[in-house]
Amino acid sequence: MIKKMLNVNGVEKVIIIDADATLANVIRENLFLTGTKVGCGKGECGSCSVIVNGKVVRSCITKMKQVPDFAVITTIEGVGTPQNLHALQMAWIAYNGAQCGFCTPGFIVSAKALLDENRNPTRQEVRDWFQKHHNACRCTGYKPLVDATMEAARVLRGEISMDDLAFKIPSDGKLWGTKYPRPTALGRVTGTIDYGADLGLKLPGVLHLAIAQARTSHGNIISIDTSEAQKMPGVVKVLTCKDVKGNNRIVGLINMPTNKGDGLDRPILCDKKIFQYGDAVAIICADTEANARAAADKVKIELEELPAYMSAPAAMAPDALEIHPGTPNVFFTIKNIKGEDTKPVMESAPYVVEDEFYTQRQPHMVLEPDVGAAYMNEDGVLFIYSKSTCLHLHYAMIQPGIGIAPDKLVIANPPAVGAMFGYKLSPTMEALLGVACMATGRPVTLRYDWHQQQTYTGKRSPFFMKVKMAVDQEGKLIAMESDWTVDHGPYAEFGDAVTVRGAQFMGAGYNIPRIRGEGRTVYTNHSWGCAFRAFGSPQAEFASEVLMDELAEKIGIDPLELRYKNVYREGDLTPTGQPPDVIVFPGLIDKARPHYREALERAKKESTPQKKRGVGVSIGVYGCGLDGPDSSEAWVELTPDGVTVFNCWQDPGQGGDVGSLITAHESLRPLNIAPEKIRLVMNDMSLAPMAGPSAGSRQQLITGQAIKIACEALLGAMKKPNGTYRTYDEMVTEKLATRYVGQYTTPGTPPDLETAQGSPFSVYQYCLFLAEVEVDTETGKTRVVKMSSFADVGEICSQLAVDGQFYGGLAQGIGLALSEDFEDIKKHSTMTGAGFPFVRDVPDELELHYQQTPRPLGPYGAAGCGEAPLTSPHAAVINAIHNACGVRITHLPAYPEKVLSGLKAKA
Ligand code: FES
Ligand code: FES
Repeated sequence: MIKKMLNVNGVEKVIIIDADATLANVIRENLFLTGTKVGCGKGECGSCSVIVNGKVVRSCITKMKQVPDFAVITTIEGVGTPQNLHALQMAWIAYNGAQCGFCTPGFIVSAKALLDENRNPTRQEVRDWFQKHHNACRCTGYKPLVDATMEAARVLRGEISMDDLAFKIPSDGKLWGTKYPRPTALGRVTGTIDYGADLGLKLPGVLHLAIAQARTSHGNIISIDTSEAQKMPGVVKVLTCKDVKGNNRIVGLINMPTNKGDGLDRPILCDKKIFQYGDAVAIICADTEANARAAADKVKIELEELPAYMSAPAAMAPDALEIHPGTPNVFFTIKNIKGEDTKPVMESAPYVVEDEFYTQRQPHMVLEPDVGAAYMNEDGVLFIYSKSTCLHLHYAMIQPGIGIAPDKLVIANPPAVGAMFGYKLSPTMEALLGVACMATGRPVTLRYDWHQQQTYTGKRSPFFMKVKMAVDQEGKLIAMESDWTVDHGPYAEFGDAVTVRGAQFMGAGYNIPRIRGEGRTVYTNHSWGCAFRAFGSPQAEFASEVLMDELAEKIGIDPLELRYKNVYREGDLTPTGQPPDVIVFPGLIDKARPHYREALERAKKESTPQKKRGVGVSIGVYGCGLDGPDSSEAWVELTPDGVTVFNCWQDPGQGGDVGSLITAHESLRPLNIAPEKIRLVMNDMSLAPMAGPSAGSRQQLITGQAIKIACEALLGAMKKPNGTYRTYDEMVTEKLATRYVGQYTTPGTPPDLETAQGSPFSVYQYCLFLAEVEVDTETGKTRVVKMSSFADVGEICSQLAVDGQFYGGLAQGIGLALSEDFEDIKKHSTMTGAGFPFVRDVPDELELHYQQTPRPLGPYGAAGCGEAPLTSPHAAVINAIHNACGVRITHLPAYPEKVLSGLKAKA
């Protein structure tokens, strides 16, 4: 133990602590300053940044023995408070710098240190600073963070005032379509809102959990020996499958009746087999996280090793074992059959192109590793707090497995969730928390480290694709043939749905009269496939959007103009035979064309033999919602001091709070209600109704409609015969109900299982991407110098939230194109190893353009928007590489060595 005298946020402290404890843990666990976050825990992400004696320090890798005595330490809590914000915090709110907000304290602290020494930095100096100090963000694309820092610097220089950064309500009182800040921004920028780990830390009498995990990818379990773990210091209990009170299975989502799996292939704690690296075998419950982790290492798993099938082709080999005995490894197939047979036209068409494509196992790489907590209330109700993005669905997926009575389980989100991008559509640790809480009768908390986050949560399912397209003499598409194989890892949940997306989105955006295709889903022993933003479309549209460029090259026509000829127009049908909900692409292309021409000119001018510049385009389409009818419910209640909106629009950072608030505010405008009088009660099954998953860009559309309907019902009840509205007191006096329910269901039809034809989504989002790249011909390294999007996501509810989705989506698209993967379990288990895009990898020039075509079914004309920015931006980057240097990358990511080998082959 050592004693340290410190000055923390202006207050003198004496701390007696283990010399090897990290500064981050001391700040969080001894000083209870939980605004400082621990993300990677390895010095890669900057989430834990604090200022020590004027220098930015990553507190997760700083041992207390390294901290000088009398050090002056500033954490986010010392930068500013909710009542007295620093200019940086104000600017972060104004520019929506805090989406999930998990990186926010680290960024703001880091930016403060910069502005303390340089009040007038250039944008490049700000970017260089964030790069140097490892400040990483997965949500924002960095541009808003640089914008915010520049604006805060202007405040500090006295050029503008804090008030200039504050949002001003327009004179007509309308918030719809404005940059009204999200209500939870204040807590995020001041570090005062609790994330999962903060909640866990503050639970009285909490036990810390750690999981003992498999270190192999496939094997039969012979025995599990927990005796040594049980004897480790601080251990209260070690749990295995024998301690699980239910059937020990996650109820997987088998969406299609032709799926050959039973949906019960994922154990909560492995009993008979290990299916993938990282599978959970035992839970250690201990007094501290360190003791729990140390004991987890002592659990011995005796195995009969089996061959590990780490890709779909390996698992499809004729001699491959069935990964789930009794179920074939190819467990689902779907055809796409649209129009007449393709063969005759493929044989006679003047231009036909065919190619093979592969999209990788993209990792979500959220900064906040998976985390949760659970406790049992006085009535024996088990409350599980997790990053779940579909509370009610996860309830159904874990309740039989953990064996709790149906009326004794509630799932909720902590007040803030550090992003998910789809991985939390699968339950990850909810059942583990439930099992441990039930077995110990104590509150419990579990936090994965970043390695566990990377190795033991789902990934984007790789697609192996072969696609062929034909056009007529005029360049009009006449036929497409496709074949795709989906590597879905060992667990079936969402596997059939993502495979159907191949049929729905390969060739999306174009009128292709004849289509023949077949896709299949395959069990493998690599990490389980799960939802990832834009679910299936980045795979499917990568193939068709790169093939469109190949087609343009073959015909000798400009790629943008080939698209212009073929995009949806009135009377056209999508690949599933559905009329598009709105016709927007000709307008988007007209908008993009001058920018495209300028970009081509710029590329020509700035290319050198060593640094070749190029321009690429792609179009992207995604549906809003789940296949078929899709529902949500919201409640609205008049209270003595305003209105309360209740819903479960789970908000991992995209802006469920501001979407709910602005939609309700717009609906209640006849009341002339101030936004601060609208209270939100969200994301707790015990308090608010089911809204369905925050996934597939469905919430603004479907929960937005439910909110609107509930508000209209309230307004209807409040309206007096003279056209004015009753007060709360008048409603009570007249015995009128004050709470109203809004329910909404979209009119989609599920896909036909023989042909994939149908109208799965009632509203779509559309986008065109324009990428400008520079390829270093000596190293093969590609740098994206500018990225633009031209989107139509209907009428925009929150401009800040929609911009945020596009900035972040473009950055993820660049990562998908160039660097991100999770194939090599060892190499790709760190942020840097997995190709995380840091600020230097994302251009400062991110340009967003919108066309707002009202959606007939959307609330106030809005569609969803979260998926659009990641539908096909990577295809634009890949097409730009070809435009720059003639190398066509078809297997992602476009690592420098692949580009270089293409250059050598060309030479
Ligand atoms: Fe400390 Fe990532 S750098 S948590
Ligand atoms: Fe930066 Fe989410 S806002 S990681």
